[in-house]
Amino acid sequence: MTRPPARLPAARRSAARRGAVIAGPLVAALVLSACDKSHRQTTLNPQGPIAHKLANLFNPVFWIAVVVFVLVEGLIAFAVIKYRSRSDDDRPVQIHGNTRLEITWTILPAVTLAFVGFFTVKTVFEVNKIPKNAMAITVTGHRWWWEYDYPGLGVKTATEMHIPVGEPINLSITSFDVIHNFWPPALAGKVYAIPGRHNHMLIQADHPDTYYGQCAEYCGLSHANMHLRIIAETPADFQAWVQQQQATAAVPADGTDAALGRTLFQQKGCAGCHTINGFTAGTVGPNLTHLQSRSVFAGAIFDMTPNNLRTWLRNPPGAKPGSVMPNLHLVEDEITKLVAYLETLK
Ligand code: CUA
Repeated sequence: MTRPPARLPAARRSAARRGAVIAGPLVAALVLSACDKSHRQTTLNPQGPIAHKLANLFNPVFWIAVVVFVLVEGLIAFAVIKYRSRSDDDRPVQIHGNTRLEITWTILPAVTLAFVGFFTVKTVFEVNKIPKNAMAITVTGHRWWWEYDYPGLGVKTATEMHIPVGEPINLSITSFDVIHNFWPPALAGKVYAIPGRHNHMLIQADHPDTYYGQCAEYCGLSHANMHLRIIAETPADFQAWVQQQQATAAVPADGTDAALGRTLFQQKGCAGCHTINGFTAGTVGPNLTHLQSRSVFAGAIFDMTPNNLRTWLRNPPGAKPGSVMPNLHLVEDEITKLVAYLETLK
């Protein structure tokens, strides 16, 4: 029987070494970048009691995994080096079974897993215990934006969710079309948004801030453009926001560009998909009644500026691939009037 050569030829050996020299630091940089706690979508910087519960489970389990990894890899490396074949007729001692070792490597992992399992199940129950007084928000995933409905308050908005700090919020998560996944890493974990189902997620923020998130389930062309923001504010600021959202939609004065834009909004079919409270009643696109109260639009890929609205209206699928909103082939003058109208929706 022929054996493969024990060593690589010198040229291939040095190429392999060069590859390792280049790839090593790259891989290390990639791994370390995942630990950057300043990243706005990091899971390692919990900002509320639910996120803290998850972190308190993750951190010890991570270090247990590190110990297991170092132990197992160390033993493998030790065995590979110490018991390597030194010549062609080197044969290891043939043994069969070792009761003491087998019992050890069965019991140790079983005890470790039982320990991790106990705290995992405990945490799962804790983060799913929804307090009776929790404020309810229905979250609906759409391709490719998030809709937020506050049933107790009669408020419907998109992309940016407002919540009061220090209060538990019960999110009821569903989908309008395909499966999405709601993921605000600083406040909680991930929960699937599934058509015809309502999954629950409890969130609570400690400090007023804007918390970033992302759809975490591949849902088509613009999955990566399906961002979300949770704006946690003081109870007073939150109340002010609610009152603003409950106000009726602006109606521009006759003869202005904005008034002509309002007419175009119906003529061009916008009204078929978008609701403006008291004016139109579409359910396919986001509610635009208070569009200008949001700082971003179109899945949070655009800042809310007149120029960005122009870019968007010119060709939505060009700006956000696969966009359900079609290119309406508007002429520049129509875009000017529509943007003038959208600018009044404060
Ligand atoms: Cu929605 Cu990915």
